[in-house]
Amino acid sequence: MPQEQTLILFKPDAIQRRLIGALLSRIENKGYKIAGLKMLQVTPELARKHYEEHVEKPFYPHLESFITSAPVVALVVEGPDAISVMRTMMGSTNGREANPGTIRGDYGTSRQMNLIHGSDGPEAAKREIPIYFQDNELCEYSLSLAASLM
Ligand code: PPS
Repeated sequence: MPQEQTLILFKPDAIQRRLIGALLSRIENKGYKIAGLKMLQVTPELARKHYEEHVEKPFYPHLESFITSAPVVALVVEGPDAISVMRTMMGSTNGREANPGTIRGDYGTSRQMNLIHGSDGPEAAKREIPIYFQDNELCEYSLSLAASLM
């Protein structure tokens, strides 16, 4: 099964609401591997780079102000079909429309404060991961040791 990597952000509202552990548990419980993990403050410059396709949209000033309002946790999540599976686990952009059982459906009511970002396809993942992580910040390891501990 081909392994994929995707960029995930726990957005400022997730940090403010002390949901880092809850969201991380969902990803680990699903069986995906964390290849990279850091907390950082997004600057306006970084926000413009990440959300370059949205910079001209009317909502962009709100998005920039929100994403720079508190730290984020950035992760590279790895596993089979990681990009689409993470998008399914996240749920629809708007928390009010997201299905129960998804992260946004269970925790969110907003289109802006929607807790989590995930790359929306392979091209996006390829572009977004290096915005947040250098090659030497990503770890290659096997989860087979975990099985031998059980
Ligand atoms: S679009 O225009 O359909 O491509 O936008 P969408 O995919 O729905 O959302 C892209 C990201 O922009 C955020 N967003 C907003 N932020 C603030 N205010 C408003 N009104 C707003 N609408 C959309 C949305 O949360 C998406 O963020 P990410 O991090 O990509 O999930």
